[in-house]
Amino acid sequence: MITHSAFSVEPWTLRETELDFDVLAQSESVFALSNGHVGWRGNLDEGEPHGLPGSYLNGVHERHPLPYAEAGYGYPEAGQTVINVTNGKLIRLLVNDEPFDVRYGRLRSHERELDLRTGLLKRTCEWTSPAGCTVRVRSTRMVSLTQRAIAAVLYEVEAVESTVRLVVQSELVANEQLPTVSGDPRVSAVLESPLVPEENVAVNTRLRLVHRTAVTGLRVAAAADHRVEGPESTESFSESNEDTSRLTITCDLSPGETLRMEKIVSYGWSGVRSLPAVRDQVEAALAGARGTGWQGLVDEQREYLDSFWSRADVEIDGDAEIQQAVRFALFHVLQAGARAEQRAIPSKGLTGSGYDGHSFWDTESFVLPLLTYTSPNAVAEALQWRQATLPAARERAAQLGLKGAAFPWRTIDGSEGSSYWPAGTAAFHINADIADAVVRYAAVTGDEVFERETGVELLVETARLWLSLGHHDHHGRFHIDGVTGPDEYSAIADDNTYTNLMAQSNLRHAADMVERHAEQGTALGVDDEETAAWRDAAEAMTVPYESSLGVHEQSSGFTRHQAWDFSATRPDQYPLMLHFPYFDLYRKQVIKQADLVLAMFVRGDCFDERQKARNFAYYEPLTVRDSSLSACVQAIIAAEVGHLRLAYDYLGEAALMDLKDLENNTRDGLHIASLAGTWMALVAGFGGMRRTASGVGFAPRLPEKVRRLAFTLQVLGRRLRVEITDSVATYTLLEGDPLEIRHFDEALTVSTAGPERRSVPAVTARPEPEQPPGRRPARR
Ligand code: BGC
Repeated sequence: MITHSAFSVEPWTLRETELDFDVLAQSESVFALSNGHVGWRGNLDEGEPHGLPGSYLNGVHERHPLPYAEAGYGYPEAGQTVINVTNGKLIRLLVNDEPFDVRYGRLRSHERELDLRTGLLKRTCEWTSPAGCTVRVRSTRMVSLTQRAIAAVLYEVEAVESTVRLVVQSELVANEQLPTVSGDPRVSAVLESPLVPEENVAVNTRLRLVHRTAVTGLRVAAAADHRVEGPESTESFSESNEDTSRLTITCDLSPGETLRMEKIVSYGWSGVRSLPAVRDQVEAALAGARGTGWQGLVDEQREYLDSFWSRADVEIDGDAEIQQAVRFALFHVLQAGARAEQRAIPSKGLTGSGYDGHSFWDTESFVLPLLTYTSPNAVAEALQWRQATLPAARERAAQLGLKGAAFPWRTIDGSEGSSYWPAGTAAFHINADIADAVVRYAAVTGDEVFERETGVELLVETARLWLSLGHHDHHGRFHIDGVTGPDEYSAIADDNTYTNLMAQSNLRHAADMVERHAEQGTALGVDDEETAAWRDAAEAMTVPYESSLGVHEQSSGFTRHQAWDFSATRPDQYPLMLHFPYFDLYRKQVIKQADLVLAMFVRGDCFDERQKARNFAYYEPLTVRDSSLSACVQAIIAAEVGHLRLAYDYLGEAALMDLKDLENNTRDGLHIASLAGTWMALVAGFGGMRRTASGVGFAPRLPEKVRRLAFTLQVLGRRLRVEITDSVATYTLLEGDPLEIRHFDEALTVSTAGPERRSVPAVTARPEPEQPPGRRPARR
């Protein structure tokens, strides 16, 4: 764990007051700005020093071969990797004759501040060059949430004590030199110089570069324009070559004088459009943003975020660190999904190249729940992206000898990118996770157009997969054998409870949805016989239960596996998959991440209170949390079964994953699922929010240290605010027609006429279960 000593704890801001080179890469992820389409890591303006330079365009990737030592049918042949696109944030500065580089001279002060309300990243520093000239540099950076192709920087340099001669080089740079990020030479090869030049232009203050990726053939364009204000001596010229387009500004600054430069950058890419079309696209976006102007962009950003916070804010009294962390989390999840617009939401968002920029079930099971209640449009778009990839998913299913669609475990372009099939292809649950996201979105928004145009097709094709993947045994029970559930330390298991219960709900909802949208069902070739078969399979679904222990099994036979020898496992041997062979992990009782415990959250209706408590107590001592997707889920169920203290500890782990770099890998990008999980742990854990047949219900319970928790949600077009103290829950409808909700077992209607208050019953604490030795979450 790395603690970034310099992050201060503030409710709406993340502030760094020292520049620590050891955590530079982590801070680049934490200070990354993105709108889901364009992503800029928090690299220093001058480019160096850096941990990992990063400019990303959602969907822009390269392909590389995936060779196997032993061939096998159906192995994906190509891997996909996100690439670093043209860097538009680069601004180099020469002070007299020395480059502004914080590794030299003296950095007299440094501050970076990410303001979660304005969406701006501000940097202020004072630097004395080795020759003794001091300048003050201020930069303000944004990636626009309102104009999706646009990012911008306001760069200001002030002379402090003596007159200085400045040279500012504002650039667009393609094929930047990167530190080696992959040990695999095939991956490094495509990452090294991924962009083939097509066009470069520099005219006055305007720059443009157009490139193409070599294998995927994606055309990537970036354009920039500048407004410069400086003393009379200010001059500028621009020049361009294949990979660099540069505006150079020179001036002499007297003490107190400032050189001010606004840089607006626009990005565009396409796999089909011609060079003139993509060029025009970025020029048009740039013209639009120039019209808005820097201040206009800043104002729009604030307005966009004000509206987001009015729908999504979470307030906590009693824990300033979690207060900051949850807003940081909401901000980054919004950034990851806000304008992804029918592209994937990668597991790291656009904050780093970790996991090769792939998206996983993290999107549907962690990110979309938060967005469904706060930014529903982004959810519709994300699921429309899945729909757009149906041709690849159908092809994959056919290749595997299955019906319907088999969505990829990890992907950028919709094709399977996992070369390790036991934790890739076999993790079929992603299909049900997508279906569940469809059902959740439709239920929480009431968006019928989406149901008809997107929902039906996704549910039908995923339901078809389950029917062909599973089978009825001679007693009529339905089994889904040989699959991998969420726990990646068990694989190719029979009847994984999570998978089966999610498939069951997928099958039932598909049948219901086809009944509601008969025309769409018929168009997809669904008849009564097919829906009856779905319902039969759902009805007969196997849910393994071990009666001698009184617990549900994670999968058939799981509880009779040998126990993992935790006493012989050293603390430095986690994550286990890097120190023990998979074959051994697979055949023992040891769990990477919440699996059955997750089933108890998403299919809570299938377990009674006693079962939940017993199951939780059984699986806790086996769960090592080698995945960042685990703590938030454990928080939710711990809270539900009455371990509020433990739930609070798990919340801390999910919330501080990146701010404290708990897994030592934040440098590769943020853990977007864990960030979203922070919100889930608060809203579903302590707020006890669950989806009900008619909407939402709450069963609030606060841990001792939290005096008040308040959150706002968007449900069926209404804005609902929930405020919880240790004894009272207050439900306020901020906007919209009366809404029926539940408070524990009571149905109540909230309206804008006034808040409804209900008492919160005290929770009887149970004895806390143990975690594997050394794996207890840090006590808060
Ligand atoms: C987890 C998966 C997750 C992936 C990407 C893995 O370590 O086991 O559940 O989807 O990381 O976050």
